Amino acid sequence: MEKILISKDENIKSEIIIENDLRLNLEYYFENKNYFLITNETIAKLYPEIIYKFNKSRVIIIKDGEKYKNIKTFEYILNELLKAKIERKDAIVALGGGVVGDMAGYCASGILRGVELIQVPTTLLAMCDSSIGGKTGFNTKYGKNLIGSFYFAKKILIDPQFLNTLDEKQYLCGLGEIIKYALIEKSCLNKNNFDLLNYLNINQKDDVKKSLDFIIHACASLKATVVSIDGFEKDLRKILNFGHTFAHAYETISKYKKFSHGLAVAYGIKCASLLAYQKELISKEYFNNIDFLLEKFDLINPKIEKKFKKYKKDEIISLMYQDKKVENSKINLLLPTAPAQVALFDNIAQPSLEASLP
Ligand SMILES: NC(=O)c1ccc[n+]([C@@H]2O[C@H](COP(=O)([O-])OP(=O)(O)OC[C@H]3O[C@@H](n4cnc5c(N)ncnc54)[C@H](O)[C@@H]3O)[C@@H](O)[C@H]2O)c1
Ligand SMILES: [Zn+2]
Repeated sequence: MEKILISKDENIKSEIIIENDLRLNLEYYFENKNYFLITNETIAKLYPEIIYKFNKSRVIIIKDGEKYKNIKTFEYILNELLKAKIERKDAIVALGGGVVGDMAGYCASGILRGVELIQVPTTLLAMCDSSIGGKTGFNTKYGKNLIGSFYFAKKILIDPQFLNTLDEKQYLCGLGEIIKYALIEKSCLNKNNFDLLNYLNINQKDDVKKSLDFIIHACASLKATVVSIDGFEKDLRKILNFGHTFAHAYETISKYKKFSHGLAVAYGIKCASLLAYQKELISKEYFNNIDFLLEKFDLINPKIEKKFKKYKKDEIISLMYQDKKVENSKINLLLPTAPAQVALFDNIAQPSLEASLP
């Protein structure tokens, strides 16, 4: 069993536990209180033995898909929790990928002004990223995750064995965020040297699949360091948004139906690295390295690119201006500056943005 702590103050505090098969004894991590389970219909079918551990009246199952990460589902969950008479001393367990985790997390932060939250991530993306760090929320037609809160889970219980049922497409989504961590690792101020970039450079997709324990540990540890320093995204934490301003624009324009988050992040990384190269922040060699990684892990190919290129550049840029990170109507972007390092550049001019969209 591995433990990683996020610890800054009362509001920024989580315990991450990584252990194979912990799902079989989930109750071991529970206290003597009522736990409300929030999950989706796919996971409920795959893991009925976990659902049965909860009192039937305290199980809430939502529809599966990013397009359901919206105010309607939020309202549905809140009503179900109130109907089942949730009390302040009770807790919410989010069992699922990033969609379930973000929605359940936001409900936990709002209901009765906040009840305890436990995250049990079941996708690679959620284990490496979304279940950690307290960001919760949902999408609107105006943009991705524009409604949300920072609300740290008391515990994040990671069982890599959940990944046995994950399909290839979802595995690739996780790789989108994992490549992000490889490209920001040195900026994370973590004392370990995981050297994810080198690891991904020298290993093939199937080898990486065999060492997901290492990858999950590395990403969780990098994120824990960053959010322990800056839980509410005042400065350092912004680096975790590398590639995301582009990604969110594409997810929004396609009404959250066309691109998975991980795939959109990969394309966002491609745009950001092109911009960095055009600004002469990075060498041709490093630019090619990033491209090579995205292609090697099947996150970018001509067919995928065609789907992104279908959208008008001015519409994408106008959506980028609606992003949460925009300040005084100016776009700030994280751009790569050296291997495994990024920096924030403010007031990116519109012509530069246009040129960065492939
Ligand atoms: N809060 C954060 O810090 C943060 C960070 C990154 C991403 N996100 C959010 O996370 C979301 C993406 O998360 P995701 O990629 O996990 O998507 P997801 O939650 O939609 O899950 C992907 C698919 O995998 C299925 N699934 C989940 N676990 C499974 C399992 N063990 N076996 C088989 N199928 C399984 C789901 O039902 C779904 O169909 C986006 O909404 C994104 O905005 C949040
Ligand atoms: Zn993300």
